[in-house]
Amino acid sequence: MRLSNIEFKAMNNAARRVLQRTVEFPLFKRMGLTGQECDILEIGCGSGYGAVLLSELRPKSYVGIDLMPEQIALARQRKLLNAEFMVLDATDLPFPDQSKDVVVIFGVLHHVPVWRKVVSEIYRVLRPGGRFFVEEPDGAAVARFDRVFAWGHAPDALFLLSDFERFLRETGFTLLGRRYMMGFGWYHARK
Ligand SMILES: C[S@@+](CC[C@H](N)C(=O)[O-])C[C@H]1O[C@@H](n2cnc3c(N)ncnc32)[C@H](O)[C@@H]1O
Repeated sequence: MRLSNIEFKAMNNAARRVLQRTVEFPLFKRMGLTGQECDILEIGCGSGYGAVLLSELRPKSYVGIDLMPEQIALARQRKLLNAEFMVLDATDLPFPDQSKDVVVIFGVLHHVPVWRKVVSEIYRVLRPGGRFFVEEPDGAAVARFDRVFAWGHAPDALFLLSDFERFLRETGFTLLGRRYMMGFGWYHARK
């Protein structure tokens, strides 16, 4: 789903970029994220700062997708070499089966009521042995946050991390790593 105006602003400022560079990306790397010679797909790439970070891994290719055209317009302004940005809905990916080595998500599925469909699509497009790195907040924490800050997350998109982990396994993923921090879960899963 599209972001509310307040969340769009919160996602597109210097503080968000600092958090992503100094906390989120290093944590994924400590959990095993590498990208050399890999075809990387980032779901919900927003304004493309994740692409800046992921390009440091020297992937073979990088594609970032996002539902919001205004996010993709900002991402394209970065003029990154070897990065492609597309306006797409993650519930229906146009990529062939087994065509990606790594899929990365920095906090997106809690905006998608049919988040299970996205997880299934990610499993489909990953090659055997392909890896999925994802961070998501627990739905109960987001609901509490919204009662104070009113960012307007859609209640039907919020899920508990325990349900998320169960669904990863049901889909066929093997969970290789897991961390919890400040109401967020971080996962490294392998197809
Ligand atoms: C909370 S923002 C995170 C953006 C970026 N990953 C970051 O960490 O700054 C969630 C992003 O997911 C995108 N999004 C939401 N639903 C989507 C969907 N069904 N398919 C693709 N992108 C989606 C939104 O447009 C938004 O840019």
